[in-house]
Amino acid sequence: MNIKEKRIVITGGTSGIGYEIVKQLHPHNELIVISRDSTKINALAKKFNGVVTIQADLSNLKEVETIADSIVKRFESIDVLINNAASQHTPTFLDNEFDYESISKEITLNFTSVCCLSYLLLPALLHEKKSVILNMNSGLGLAPKTSSAIYCGTKGAINIFSQSLRYQLEDSNISVQQAFLALVDTAMTKGRGKNKLTATEAASMIIRGIEQDVAENYIGKVKLLRALLRISPSLAKRILKNN
Ligand SMILES: NC(=O)c1ccc[n+]([C@@H]2O[C@H](COP(=O)([O-])OP(=O)(O)OC[C@H]3O[C@@H](n4cnc5c(N)ncnc54)[C@H](OP(=O)(O)O)[C@@H]3O)[C@@H](O)[C@H]2O)c1
Repeated sequence: MNIKEKRIVITGGTSGIGYEIVKQLHPHNELIVISRDSTKINALAKKFNGVVTIQADLSNLKEVETIADSIVKRFESIDVLINNAASQHTPTFLDNEFDYESISKEITLNFTSVCCLSYLLLPALLHEKKSVILNMNSGLGLAPKTSSAIYCGTKGAINIFSQSLRYQLEDSNISVQQAFLALVDTAMTKGRGKNKLTATEAASMIIRGIEQDVAENYIGKVKLLRALLRISPSLAKRILKNN
């Protein structure tokens, strides 16, 4: 797909990788950005002329349903849906700072809202031209680390969901894709990890993957992780465990 003059819905476009995707796609496309923080949303709307911004907390399914309904009513068709927004609560279950309330919010944002938005926006995605649902994933969706168990679980779920949805939609115009990212330097990974990709690099590799119709786009060190998972699964898991 040549990503020019497309109508693209992206969640979490106000910071990190999502923001960089917005920045790179804005000049030639119509963008609809869904994010939570109204100050950041207003700043985005001022910076990128013509971008449609929608404020919603995607960890609340009522809000997901309301905005999906308004998008389908307002826009006849959508070419690309990028399910990018996610959060990561890093403490382990044994840490004092583990927040019990975060469990269902994180699952709803990272997984359930992705399933719901994909379903609820289908009427706008199903049409005669090619369209894409891109789900943002992580190396942690292939092999977990010790901390962030809920995050790892949701990314594993996104992986299986995306493959099954791809089967369901294989005779339609919709291509279901995933981008599996290595560590990227964003607010989510602040103070953690080394040799991270920049959000700009990650965004351009993600966009190239959509353009080249790559069903499973392994980005950065995830390519190595995948190879290692084939050659020596136990070594790969050990490396990721303490990542
Ligand atoms: N960074 C990495 O190393 C890495 C690695 C692998 C995969 N990924 C994946 O890449 C994607 C983007 O991550 P990132 O690092 O760019 O994260 P980020 O910088 O923390 O940005 C997350 C975005 O999601 C939005 N968001 C968070 N909670 C929300 C909610 N409840 N409702 C609506 N929007 C919400 C945020 O908007 P507000 O600020 O307005 O809340 C923000 O725009 C995620 O799916 C993540 O799992 C990242």
